[in-house]
Amino acid sequence: MKYKLLLSGSVIAIGFMALMASSINEREDERVALNKVPVVADKIQHKNEEWSRYFPRQYSSWKKTKESSEITDMLKEKPQLAVLWAGYGFAKDYNAPRGHYYALQDNINTLRTGAPVDGKTGPMVTACWTCKSPDVPRIIERDGELEYFTGKWAKYGHEIVNPIGCADCHSNTTGELSVRRPHLDRALQSAGLPTFEDSTHQEKRNLVCAQCHVEYYFQKTEWTDKNGKKKVAKVVTLPWANGLTAEGAEKYYDDMGFKDWTHKISKTPMLKTQHPGYELYKTGIHGQKGVSCADCHMPYTQEGSVKYSDHQLQNPLNTMDRSCMTCHRESEKTLEEIVSKKYDRKDQLHELAMDNLAKAHLETAKAMEAGATDAELKAIRADIRSGQWKWDYAVASHPAFFHAPEETLRLLAVANESAMQARLGLVAVLAKHGVTNYSAPDFTDKKKAQKLAGVPLQKLVDAKKKFKATLEKEWQKQAIKNGNLNMKYRKGVDQESSYF
Ligand code: HEC
Ligand code: HEC
Ligand code: HEC
Ligand code: HEC
Repeated sequence: MKYKLLLSGSVIAIGFMALMASSINEREDERVALNKVPVVADKIQHKNEEWSRYFPRQYSSWKKTKESSEITDMLKEKPQLAVLWAGYGFAKDYNAPRGHYYALQDNINTLRTGAPVDGKTGPMVTACWTCKSPDVPRIIERDGELEYFTGKWAKYGHEIVNPIGCADCHSNTTGELSVRRPHLDRALQSAGLPTFEDSTHQEKRNLVCAQCHVEYYFQKTEWTDKNGKKKVAKVVTLPWANGLTAEGAEKYYDDMGFKDWTHKISKTPMLKTQHPGYELYKTGIHGQKGVSCADCHMPYTQEGSVKYSDHQLQNPLNTMDRSCMTCHRESEKTLEEIVSKKYDRKDQLHELAMDNLAKAHLETAKAMEAGATDAELKAIRADIRSGQWKWDYAVASHPAFFHAPEETLRLLAVANESAMQARLGLVAVLAKHGVTNYSAPDFTDKKKAQKLAGVPLQKLVDAKKKFKATLEKEWQKQAIKNGNLNMKYRKGVDQESSYF
């Protein structure tokens, strides 16, 4: 009996050990498979589907960024925006961000990129493709960075055809994380920070995102090509030399006398913030504690015995169990409520600042109409410029209320103070010119606000539709012929916009 028990015990033990060994072997195989250096040839690295053979899990989760498909027309949600951006592209059309899968098509569809009729017509420059596609690193490598940044947006319409993908964040020769755009390392150096190569692994998990989710402008750069032809490039440049802060960037722009545009209503020389997501995140508690973008937005996922990074970049509140609960002990519901309160606090100050800034623009126009001089309006316009910069900085990367709540509220409070200073100044200037009871016109819906901003919406939409029926179709034909575009990935998304 004793022996029998011992024998069956050993059989079980041996069986268990064999099972363990096979499972360890399996994991080892998977690990080796995952780390196997994929050589995705240079010629096809921009085509995301070519990577799927080596990395099916990352590829199929990446493809799911298509699920975040909702279009939110921000000019409808917050009509004040059209007044604030009068004379600038964003007053025409502006949607909240959605999945990476759509980034390229959204750039083509937005009214901001206009309706070019050939490779030489505007309104935008080539730099507008920079954060939309893995074709960008391909072209930079092929044509050189300065040639890539020279000319109008439409120059590369037939070349830049794949949505943000593998070759945007990975080297195609080693598979490792990689930044594929030279502007980031230049900016890190200008700020006295380590370059990508010299950064820690955890920081690299941020820096791949910081290729795109940052504040930037297009620096005018004169150069001579290899045939001796003089050219002017507009190079994506991050204003980080005075630090990664709103005030540092503002000083950078002020010192060089830079403006993005002249405001159509108030004639103020304005700055437009892009999306300083990385810079703001750095000021928040998660950034301070070294929690990376990928920790929340690309949580590890277990599939059988394989662990991999979920490449469905999306709102992490959809994946709280994997994105937050690895560190937090409160319930998901409690944590979600805390986040939602942060949004409400931001939104109250956000509305106040927008309202005061929009009124400051309109009151300045009234003062001009009543005869106020540029000298009288100088300090007022300086307050409007500075206030709107800080407001935009706080909200242009939408979730800063979560990534960096304190800094967001501080910037909105300072923005509101500048707007109020401008409006106080305007009361005096208006009174001096005999205007005592002016109140700004109503801008509470998109139609009214765009009218004040002088946006000829229907004309823009008609031109865009014509462009989509003609030049865009040509681009697609050419790209398919060159073997760069698989239309499977374009079907059904090319008609999505706020105006169709
Ligand atoms: C090549 C440029 C680029 C890189 C690199 C990049 N992004 Fe984006 N990201 C964008 C653009 C452009 C959009 C807006 C797309 C749209 O609205 O069509 C976006 C949108 C998003 C969204 C919104 C998705 C949604 O479902 O609403 C999230 C979240 C996001 N990015 C996070 C990240 C993170 C985290 C990283 C780094 C791991 C990263 N991004 C790297 C350009 C980039
Ligand atoms: C927006 C940037 C971004 C894009 C786009 C992207 N990755 Fe990744 N990828 C990452 C990050 C960040 C990690 C985590 C790396 C780490 O910590 O070592 C990662 C990890 C990986 C890994 C290592 C194993 C793992 O899952 O952690 C593989 C393999 C991989 N990605 C393949 C791909 C493929 C294939 C594509 C295209 C379908 C792709 N990636 C697109 C950022 C990106
Ligand atoms: C601690 C977790 C965490 C970290 C770290 C983090 N995020 Fe987020 N992110 C979130 C949450 C949560 C949201 C959604 C907030 C909301 O809108 O409710 C979000 C939203 C976003 C969005 C907007 C999505 C949309 O559709 O509006 C972008 C873009 C984004 N993050 C990019 C980044 C980048 C880039 C980094 C790193 C520089 C980063 N995030 C770091 C948690 C995180
Ligand atoms: C890698 C660990 C880690 C992850 C992942 C993480 N957090 Fe945190 N979180 C922290 C740390 C550390 C703090 C600072 C507080 C502390 O030290 O206890 C913090 C603080 C917070 C705070 C309070 C700080 C504030 O700004 O008011 C909130 C809210 C929060 N996290 C929400 C989230 C959410 C939502 C997610 C998922 C999308 C998340 N966190 C993911 C580590 C993490």
